[in-house]
Amino acid sequence: MDLTHRPRRLRKDGIRNLVSETSLEPSDFIAPVFVDATTDERIAIESMPGHERVPIDEAVARVEEVLETGVEAVMLFGIPQSKDAEGTRAWVEDGVVQEATRRITAETDAYVITDVCLCEYTDHGHCGPLEAGVCDAGSGTDAGEVGHETGAGDSQEHGLTVDNDATLEALEKIAVSHANAGADMIAPSGMMDGMVDAIRGALDGSGYTDVPVMSYAAKYQSAFYGPFRDAADGAPSFGDRRHYQMDPANRREAMREVALDVDQGADVLMVKPALPYLDIVSDLRREFDHPIAAYNVSGEYAMLHAASEKGWLDLEATAHESLLSIKRAGADLILTYFAEDIAPKL
Ligand code: PBG
Repeated sequence: MDLTHRPRRLRKDGIRNLVSETSLEPSDFIAPVFVDATTDERIAIESMPGHERVPIDEAVARVEEVLETGVEAVMLFGIPQSKDAEGTRAWVEDGVVQEATRRITAETDAYVITDVCLCEYTDHGHCGPLEAGVCDAGSGTDAGEVGHETGAGDSQEHGLTVDNDATLEALEKIAVSHANAGADMIAPSGMMDGMVDAIRGALDGSGYTDVPVMSYAAKYQSAFYGPFRDAADGAPSFGDRRHYQMDPANRREAMREVALDVDQGADVLMVKPALPYLDIVSDLRREFDHPIAAYNVSGEYAMLHAASEKGWLDLEATAHESLLSIKRAGADLILTYFAEDIAPKL
């Protein structure tokens, strides 16, 4: 055959790596770490093999395990001692994330990013306090009881939703308390309108002008968060998060959401989940010059593990390929439960 173009020429060993367009580095990864104030021992998370909730006393040891793999950054999630309707344990100075952050930053070189949200701290499991009055309007019971009566219905039907502006005040307090504890970066994940502006103002007002904000700018209302909600005990007791998280059907809206966060001073823009939303990662890469993060979420991790347990997929190969695709789509930072497994193999 008289073929001028033979792309296979560049796929031979020796040249293949030279023309490779994308590569993963351990420094691309952020490893999520769960610290649990209700336990004295490590608790395995069944739906996320290899991951555990660790007691505060084990937080430093847990982060050292991460650092040994070459990963340099962790994202801390906390399970508090107790929960209430407002999520008050989220901003106390002796809270679980505050205490863990203090110890980790004192004793390790890890870059510590803290998740700023209320869903692990509220007894109803929503990402902020509910709108005043509405809890009583429908049924005459408090939110917890409504949860028991209705199970997983649509909270909109019950007239219940998170009070956006009251949540902003709480997020400001949480962010400042995390910075007081030494957090290197703040990552608000609640999808409240104006959250970056509120947090930026609060941090600056407390002298933390150098603490960056990584906004979960385009966070979708996703069924892929299932295993995480077991891990962090943050499942809503009624309804779902569709009033504040984005509709998976929407692509253009992500540009609007992200542009708002950019205007409000977000330093890093996150898309979440990652694999089912690579079009969004790619759109952001084209549209913005900010660093872009993608969160390869718990369900994305769990499904590869489940398939590999059945012998249907090669875990390491599919994990590596997934992470490479996230980077190729345009992400600079990747939050992933595979961080510790893949980093040493790179
Ligand atoms: C809480 C939060 C969630 C995740 C990260 N932060 C859960 C949710 O919004 O329901 C999910 C992470 C994962 O699934 O790995 N705001």
